[in-house]
Amino acid sequence: MYIQTLTVAAAIGLSGLAWIAHDPLSAHDPILNASSIMVADRSATGNGSSYTDPGAKIIAPEQPASREILARGRKMFLVSCAPCHGADGSGSGPIAVNLLSKPRDLTRGIYMNRSTASGQLPTDYDLYRTITTGLHNTAMPAFRQMAPGDRWAVVQYIKTFSARFNDTTEYPLDVLNVGTEVLPSPQSLATGRNLYLQSQCATCHGLRGQGDGPAAGTLTDDFGNRIWPTDLTNASAFKFGRSNLDIFRIFSTGLNGTPMPSFEQTLSETDRWHLANYVWSLQNTDQYVDGVAADSLAESGDHR
Ligand code: HEC
Ligand code: HEC
Repeated sequence: MYIQTLTVAAAIGLSGLAWIAHDPLSAHDPILNASSIMVADRSATGNGSSYTDPGAKIIAPEQPASREILARGRKMFLVSCAPCHGADGSGSGPIAVNLLSKPRDLTRGIYMNRSTASGQLPTDYDLYRTITTGLHNTAMPAFRQMAPGDRWAVVQYIKTFSARFNDTTEYPLDVLNVGTEVLPSPQSLATGRNLYLQSQCATCHGLRGQGDGPAAGTLTDDFGNRIWPTDLTNASAFKFGRSNLDIFRIFSTGLNGTPMPSFEQTLSETDRWHLANYVWSLQNTDQYVDGVAADSLAESGDHR
């Protein structure tokens, strides 16, 4: 994995400059296209106690789009992103053929890592977070070394690839409410386990969360690629879920473009916290079985 990442990074380093030279000023050029400069003026409006996350504290303020910002974003994109996502954002950059997980076609405006309702566009911050953390376990790198201002500029630039971001009917975005966090406890985990079974998570993720449910071998994403339910017991299998808050967000909003549905309408906020606590505990699967600490099950002679 480490070697693979290094190889990819080296390939980008080498191909980056050459790639700029080959980039024709295509029909898609927001610098020349005045209408897309308005993109940032319609970023998300939340509704009350909406989603924030711990990473939000350490980031630079959002950059509004302007000709300068878009030019800066385009420059960064051509060097750092186009080798995979293509200069036109279609996901067919020169490195793409060699990748098992295909770079996203950014022209569709379909993003899975969001804080917004099912089917909606991501907020600017959602895109910023993806660029900052990358998608673990895929070729999509984390761009923590890129200056925050450059990352915000890239956010504005990639929005120009999809007309959806300029469509007023897409707004305002409905940002997730997280309610009041329920702290993990044996009771919360037991409730969460029941909700996991009732909500059919196991159909895809399996009874033990190992990604081996009956539907697991049958799934494709909206881009026509095979896709597998995450092994929820393996922390490093997660693409971006890093906390129980992330997990709450992931199954609340669903992952657009994948078969992973949204459960915002079907489960109350409190129930979603129980479920998030349970799913989070699966990463320590030896500790909790069916919501009960494995140790106490072992003592009662009932251990798996
Ligand atoms: C080495 C190849 C590679 C590079 C370089 C790369 N990406 Fe990606 N990117 C991917 C792959 C692969 C995926 C899809 C991962 C998956 O879900 O399987 C992806 C997915 C994404 C997504 C979709 C996330 C979502 O919520 O659905 C965004 C946004 C994105 N990349 C932006 C960027 C930006 C911006 C850059 C440059 C700063 C960049 N990428 C550089 C490979 C790359
Ligand atoms: C129809 C199948 C399906 C159902 C039902 C389903 N999921 Fe998923 N889920 C998926 C797929 C497929 C992925 C992988 C997406 C990817 O790799 O891009 C996923 C990914 C995830 C992730 C990991 C996101 C990350 O960081 O990589 C979590 C957490 C998750 N699901 C939780 C749940 C929970 C909790 C439920 C039930 C409330 C549930 N899922 C129901 C298919 C499903």
